[in-house]
Amino acid sequence: MAVDLLLGLQWGDEGKGKIVDVLTKNYNLISRFQGGPNAGHTLIFDGHKHVLHTIPSGIFHDDALNIIGNGVVIDPVIFKKELENLDKFNLDLNAKILISRKAHLILPTHRLLDAASEASKGKAKIGSTLKGIGPTYMDKTGRNGMRVGDLELSNWEEIFDILTQKHLKMLDFFDVALEYNLAELKAEFFTAVARLKEMTFIDSEEYLHQAIKSNQTILAEGAQGSLLDVDFGTYPFVTSSNTTAAGACTGLGIAPNTIGEVYGIFKAYTTRVGSGPFPTELFDADGERMAKVGHEFGATTGRPRRCGWLDLVALKYACQVNGVTQLNMMKGDVLSGFETLKICTAYEYKGEVIEHFPYNIEPENVKPIYKEFKGWKEDITEISSEAEFPKELSEYIAFIEKETETKISIVSVGPDRKQTIVR
Ligand code: GDP
Ligand code: IMO
Ligand code: MG
Repeated sequence: MAVDLLLGLQWGDEGKGKIVDVLTKNYNLISRFQGGPNAGHTLIFDGHKHVLHTIPSGIFHDDALNIIGNGVVIDPVIFKKELENLDKFNLDLNAKILISRKAHLILPTHRLLDAASEASKGKAKIGSTLKGIGPTYMDKTGRNGMRVGDLELSNWEEIFDILTQKHLKMLDFFDVALEYNLAELKAEFFTAVARLKEMTFIDSEEYLHQAIKSNQTILAEGAQGSLLDVDFGTYPFVTSSNTTAAGACTGLGIAPNTIGEVYGIFKAYTTRVGSGPFPTELFDADGERMAKVGHEFGATTGRPRRCGWLDLVALKYACQVNGVTQLNMMKGDVLSGFETLKICTAYEYKGEVIEHFPYNIEPENVKPIYKEFKGWKEDITEISSEAEFPKELSEYIAFIEKETETKISIVSVGPDRKQTIVR
């Protein structure tokens, strides 16, 4: 069977966790392929709210297995906490989660390096989640990293110590004072590694190859979003992995011709957390209203998310880079009650009107051009079918479908698993 992908098309937090949870009933395997504990994927059902960082969002279903692929970076300390948070749900976690030996490990000193790098940048900081993501991927591409498979070697503690020592020298390079207790960090890491080693490690590319051959159904769960992709995002204000479709191939070891559906997920408006340009950002009462009604606070860091209108220039770009075959629109309920809605359909760029996503999207280069829509008054959080959509919502959806030339197959009208309309 083909591997389906579910990818965020904006700056992350589109609602990927919710939709993966909704779709898991159709799949045997759910696989994360990039990112790490910088992700925060929220699932709400049966009166419980769960936030997952490293564990795939299929974990609550009895019949699916969850793979953490080679492209993911794992912090054993955070992973252990995630497992502990799930302990009370009797999920047989050791059997339901399989971890790639080729996934890289986030060491405590990677977190320190992230903090030092950000502090040294001052105003130019990226707004990293400070989970050590950048330094860990740097060690991966620099060929210095430590991998899950290393934990099966008798000398893994030595590998850890050598890398830690290197990091301590690198920390000296940054002229910032960080307070930390290395012995405590090391002890915490070692305890967490002991828990990690109770899990099943696999050669995930071989596992997936066999799964595809034996017609198992597989969904790859993206983290972050296309505009945070290290190549195609708003560099340098991005994360350190390929969040786009190609990242699923390298992050799982699957061939491009095994990819089937590509679900592209977006909010009916736009949010961003951390620094970096955001052409449709609002600094007025409309933006405040989106933040308040949408509870726009980061699931990993709790930081307020910046809010703005839907940016169709960016959305079309993301559809194109990923080969999106179906769109999922989230949080339409947050827009209920707005008199007028706006969608950015083009940019004014260096005196010209353009419809593609250019190299520079800073405010001095780009001004959004908007089309206005009449808003809908109705609360849509209780509706269960498309037939109940307010006319204005149907028009909003039809316009996005026409412009992206892609069907919106799922409309989410609230955070709960049940508040999902499949069209
Ligand atoms: P992810 O990182 O893409 O999984 O998304 P996050 O979990 O970080 O952020 C999405 C937030 O929106 C979470 O708080 C969800 O519970 C919430 N959410 C998801 N879908 C909807 C929706 O349709 N309406 C509303 N109001 N909230 C939603
Ligand atoms: P999910 O999977 C939103 C942002 C950070 C920062 C930049 C770099 O929940 O959608 P990093 O820690 O990766 O070095 O941070 O990327 N960022 C996210 N924003 N959702 C995420 O994940 C994010 N992961 C990283 O805020 O701007
Ligand atoms: Mg999130």
